[in-house]
Amino acid sequence: MVSRVIPVEPFDLVVFGATGDLARRKILPALYRRMQAGQVPAEARVIGAARAGQTRDDFRAFAAAALADFVPAARRDAAGVAAFLDRLDYVALDATGAAGWDDLAALMRPGVVRAFYFSVAPALFGAIAERLHARGIADPGSRIVVEKPFGHDLTSARALNATLARHFDEGQIYRIDHYLGKETVQNLMAVRFGNILFEPLWNARHVDHVQITVAETVGVGGRGAYYDRAGAMRDMVQNHLMQLLCLIAMEPPWHFDPAAVRDEKLKVIRALAPVPAADIVRGQYAATGGEPGYAEDAGNPDSTTESFVALKVQVRNWRWQGTPFYLRTGKRLRARTSEIAVIFRDPPHSIFDQGGLRQNELVIRLQPNEGINLKVMIKEPGPGGMRLVQVPLDMSFAEALGPEGADMPDAYERLIMDVIRGNQTLFMRGDEVEAAWAWTDPIIAGWEARGDRPQPYDAGSSGPEDALALMHRDGRKWREIRE
Ligand code: BG6
Repeated sequence: MVSRVIPVEPFDLVVFGATGDLARRKILPALYRRMQAGQVPAEARVIGAARAGQTRDDFRAFAAAALADFVPAARRDAAGVAAFLDRLDYVALDATGAAGWDDLAALMRPGVVRAFYFSVAPALFGAIAERLHARGIADPGSRIVVEKPFGHDLTSARALNATLARHFDEGQIYRIDHYLGKETVQNLMAVRFGNILFEPLWNARHVDHVQITVAETVGVGGRGAYYDRAGAMRDMVQNHLMQLLCLIAMEPPWHFDPAAVRDEKLKVIRALAPVPAADIVRGQYAATGGEPGYAEDAGNPDSTTESFVALKVQVRNWRWQGTPFYLRTGKRLRARTSEIAVIFRDPPHSIFDQGGLRQNELVIRLQPNEGINLKVMIKEPGPGGMRLVQVPLDMSFAEALGPEGADMPDAYERLIMDVIRGNQTLFMRGDEVEAAWAWTDPIIAGWEARGDRPQPYDAGSSGPEDALALMHRDGRKWREIRE
């Protein structure tokens, strides 16, 4: 299968915070890979901007090291790397002062797409946006890209939206949730809306429940200071799991475009019921087998922050009334796996005496081994009567799509190219983010008011016992966490 790579327009992409971790791990490698794929035209340029008083050559050396560390050797070639580095420029500037802004203005070229990546603390968004305008660096066609965390709660998210809105229209603001850039997440929409098979069954009459799991094996080491103020609810549920839930639960948009898709997602968020305390389980990984526990990793012995959370969520609308969505995410769990499982109801009547009928399951695996798996009942082979057995109809994208299926582009490759193309479909709109916080805030306020402490769980486990009980008491069971 040959993919069609359509080059984007020439651009000047300015990366504020260019010497930071995100630039090193994600942004620069993604741009390099898109250039190698032939998507970035020769006239495109990336301008690093940061406080460090370094030269263009220093920045190129930094970028070369980033590619060496984060692009697999098989994907790097000396000529390609040299061509990429050649497109990099650098300005040292003071985000909150005057220094460097004239240099940046002088570097910008007319007639190309201008994009500004705010890979900096949200506290700097306002100062940067204001200077881009005051110096005439941003024009009405410019785009800005901002990262999560987009606020800490509804109040701070509103304040950020208001700050950005002073200088940019909503149509210019690209709020990244990198889960939306994952290939399989987009596939979710292709599967739901590109096939006739699923949609008639996609409702409470036929779906017993949905499970969304994002499990990680890593701890919070190194990010403790940020994480201890966020916790799994703010770090993962308010954004990534919420987006997955939206894509599963939303009505078919009339068209695959930014307004239509985001309108439908917003309706889902607004339909989410408040979550009672009994439907929330929080956990914190304990020191296990000589490895430090969460509190030590976070540098806060008394921390009550959760590194795991499981929730039972109800979507209050006609389609989903009576079908719970169980969400869970955590660090230092048994395996790294992200999946969405749609568990269908039992057939209304069994014609088989032996019984053994099991529910159909549609499992969408986001990572690793991206693919889709549909569990169906068939007859067990052999002459021993009509015994039924459940088998998977397994479509691994790596197998079905050949090398391209195995070599999925990183989410950032897709998302940065969408910014240049001016396509906001896979980015969060301001009202969506605010609605997500409006649902999240009372959940967090509730456990803070109750003084709940997260339950300890062993590293390498499936999370705290109560998370299992959350399902058991409804006569249901989590799928196993495994790769
Ligand atoms: C980030 C969170 O947004 O997503 C991290 O801040 C988390 O805590 C990461 O580890 C998970 O992303 P991925 O793509 O590795 O599943």
